[in-house]
Amino acid sequence: MDKLRIQGGKALHGEVAISGAKNATLPLMAACLLLDGPLVLQNIAALGDVVTMIKLLRQMGVTVEEGSGTQLRFNANTLTHTFAPYEMVRAMRASILVLGPMLARFGSAQVSMPGGCAIGARPVDRHLQALKAMGAEVDIENGYINAQGKLHGAEVGFDDVTVTGTENIMMAAVLAEGETIIHNCAMEPEVVDLATCLNRFGARIEGAGTETICIQGVDRLSGGEHRVIGDRIEAITYLIAAIMTQGNVTIVGIDPVHCKAAIDLLRTTGANITTGEDWIGVNMMQKPMAASVTTAPFPGFPTDAQAQLVALNSIAQGRSVVTETIFENRFMHVHELRRMGGRFDLHHDYVICHGVGHLIGARVEATDLRASASLVLAGLVAQGETIVEHVYHLDRGYLAMEKKLQSLGASIERIGADIL
Ligand code: UD1
Repeated sequence: MDKLRIQGGKALHGEVAISGAKNATLPLMAACLLLDGPLVLQNIAALGDVVTMIKLLRQMGVTVEEGSGTQLRFNANTLTHTFAPYEMVRAMRASILVLGPMLARFGSAQVSMPGGCAIGARPVDRHLQALKAMGAEVDIENGYINAQGKLHGAEVGFDDVTVTGTENIMMAAVLAEGETIIHNCAMEPEVVDLATCLNRFGARIEGAGTETICIQGVDRLSGGEHRVIGDRIEAITYLIAAIMTQGNVTIVGIDPVHCKAAIDLLRTTGANITTGEDWIGVNMMQKPMAASVTTAPFPGFPTDAQAQLVALNSIAQGRSVVTETIFENRFMHVHELRRMGGRFDLHHDYVICHGVGHLIGARVEATDLRASASLVLAGLVAQGETIVEHVYHLDRGYLAMEKKLQSLGASIERIGADIL
């Protein structure tokens, strides 16, 4: 397994281009199952999770072809079966996104039930309840969700916000008969991107980006082209990296509106942050002040940037409290940051960070995607050498992170499993 070797202490300078958003790409890829014609997606990052979704779709008979540059073409008219096996869903929970589209278009789907994962239990009960309300017969047998039936419109609501749940039900509803109203929807930009794409191909979705989405079912959707939005979590990660290293970086290919909560918070660290239509500039001249936050669904501060903020707070001036409200086990990075000299009081759903003068490089192990990113950020400012193990977690969601950081002046390299 690859590792990253980092020599800390270099301030980041220059420009970094943000890739297509992982969490927008995955539902858009699943949406190909709804379409009567080919789907062409632009601005796709070749991430681990995207490769897993390609494998899953190909297994089901979907034709997936690589176009030039960052383009992928999908055609689901070659589909042979509506089955998502355990191995795929275990590798990536977002595989559940094929459930709604398959059921809506083909009238049946069998998808492995996701289990727990490194950051929490993550059940899919809200997806299933809503599909049942739309007329699906759903039972769980031998670890598989068996769903069938002709879907009709319904008024459904989630007890608590769910991002992939909102996307799954929205996709199911576009081909269901009649009107579906979804209450308490996720308002994430990735939900809006999916709705924009589907509407372009003939869907009738209103209200994406608000708490209530109304969908009038249609008989068929055409294919077409769509450009995926930039990855706001990747952008926030580089923003934090620039602040931690006291650098001066321009982050391009991102809509700053998608990062507003993080930008507002990060300004309180003392960073000078400027924005344009599709870029964010950050200039930091001093050691950052600590920043307390509570994670929340969009437009709140994202749970997917919590670990990176904890890394920042570990070296910031002062004491801060970071509270996690979305996932129950999302502080694994704290244990590794402690091994680098970080000082924390860890509680069930919050962590008190006592900023220390400096971190010291160590060999650390990533346990999930965003925890890996936080360890890389810590390595960038630690004294001496840091080795981040299990980089495959990072590769699931960050395209060529070491290359992008190298281009900003960081001393970081990927090393193979056989070295060290
Ligand atoms: C998505 C993102 C993930 C992000 C998360 C929260 C994708 C592919 N992944 O994950 O990066 O961290 O949103 O912003 O977009 N829950 C239930 N029952 C359900 C559904 C969810 O109890 O049926 C719980 C989950 O366990 C979690 C919370 O609700 O505690 C939010 O989960 P959800 O928004 O569904 O996360 P994902 O869509 O899986």
